[in-house]
Amino acid sequence: MDPIAILHSDHQKFISLFSEIEHAKPEDRRELYLRLELILTLHMLSEERIFYHELLSQAEVADTIKKSYQSHHLVDVATHELKTIAYTSERWLAEFQAIRDNILSHMAEEENFLFPKLREILTSSQLATIGESMTSYRQNLLD
Ligand SMILES: [Fe+2]
Ligand SMILES: [Fe+2]
Repeated sequence: MDPIAILHSDHQKFISLFSEIEHAKPEDRRELYLRLELILTLHMLSEERIFYHELLSQAEVADTIKKSYQSHHLVDVATHELKTIAYTSERWLAEFQAIRDNILSHMAEEENFLFPKLREILTSSQLATIGESMTSYRQNLLD
């Protein structure tokens, strides 16, 4: 399984959930947001514990990977803060949009720089090995 394809497909899900949440009635936000949070957590854990972890040894992307861990940390902090705000308030939407913008810019770096770079520097068998670890990690988390 191609790990980049798995991560790319998660990114697409985030984009569509971002828009659903933004346009939802305030009383429907919570349910949609909790769905987003679950796949976002699964996604960030798969990157941090498998994908990024395997890539730290690749000099050409090591700085980007370190920056990515920091971006995930900021998203973690912000999503915890979001839980202290009423879902139906204007402030919730404003904070949600700020988090969404941060996630979108982090995702753009992965899609536009990291993923293409990895296709250049890793062999398909290296990618397949990472893909296998990621698939079984995700499976175990959900079991
Ligand atoms: Fe990431
Ligand atoms: Fe990602």
